[in-house]
Amino acid sequence: MNVFVTGGAGYIGSVCVEELLNAGHAVTVFDNLTEGHRSAVDRRATFVHACLSDRAAIGDALKKSGAEAVIHFAANALVGESMTNPGKYFRNNVGSGLNLLDAAVECRVQKFVFSSTCATYGPPERVPMTEDLPQRPINPYGESKLMFEQVLKWYREIHKLEFVAFRYFNAAGASAQFGEHHRIETHLIPNVLKVALGQARQCEIFGTDYPTPDGTCIRDYIHIADLAQAHILALAPGRAGFFNLGNGEGYSVREVIRACEEVTGKKVPTVEQPRRPGDPPRLVAAAAKAFNELGWKPKFPKLHDIVGTAWGWHQKHPSGYAD
Ligand code: UFG
Repeated sequence: MNVFVTGGAGYIGSVCVEELLNAGHAVTVFDNLTEGHRSAVDRRATFVHACLSDRAAIGDALKKSGAEAVIHFAANALVGESMTNPGKYFRNNVGSGLNLLDAAVECRVQKFVFSSTCATYGPPERVPMTEDLPQRPINPYGESKLMFEQVLKWYREIHKLEFVAFRYFNAAGASAQFGEHHRIETHLIPNVLKVALGQARQCEIFGTDYPTPDGTCIRDYIHIADLAQAHILALAPGRAGFFNLGNGEGYSVREVIRACEEVTGKKVPTVEQPRRPGDPPRLVAAAAKAFNELGWKPKFPKLHDIVGTAWGWHQKHPSGYAD
């Protein structure tokens, strides 16, 4: 298929583009490079440097690409930042996303695949979390993604735009070529690996008084190559709806730090800090729906393998991408 990928220069998008190309699809990447990196775009893809706030640029690029499917990764995705700058999240994740949706309808795109998040649920009533749990986000990031999920339902109803929305749990790991480089890094695994690389003295633990066995937050870490495979499966006709993507195993912040120490063979000093606003204590996926309806099966379910691929990439790219 001709696939139009927004945010294809970003962390998850770059690996998805690589896997789409490996699977024989033709890919156009549309990215404004505020979060992404030009050198994270697979050389086999066509690259368009433009912004989703520019409705005309989206229309032009979509038409030129002959897109049959759109995969929409481009977004701001930091829980902490969204608690201090909510406007950025609603403007970019909802407002600019609408430009893309309208252009997709106009260009008669057959399938729209959206990067949603487990942050749409807020603190869940139970774990593992199934897709039918109530969605009550506790940060503007999760709220902005939930709003876009609602918009998608109406575009399906009114414009017959078929969509798949994936609620990612915590994306982690790397491919041989592409990995995680945020200009300001706030994510746990890359921050711990920075200490292992000698680029930081210690790792902060945000909150040690959560109602979890060791007092730190629990998350379900999922390899980005496995996320990418789910997007490829979603392109098949008839596949539609909301799907959780996670491994169904939760690891606390302390457990992740220990896994990083084991993988790297380095001691990671830590410092305990107060809770980070907006963090739910425990998020763990039930992903049976994706297994059963999409035939999805993660290849890297083990935390040590996930961290191992991230460590391999960070060792090869200690300063991340050049741009
Ligand atoms: N954490 C630390 N120290 C750090 C970084 C993070 O203790 O240096 C803690 C956080 O407070 C949190 C956990 O580690 O409890 C995971 O934090 P991340 O920042 O790695 O990931 P989040 O769970 O906050 O958010 C990520 C993505 C979101 C996505 C979400 C789904 O940034 O886009 O996963 O859970 F929605």
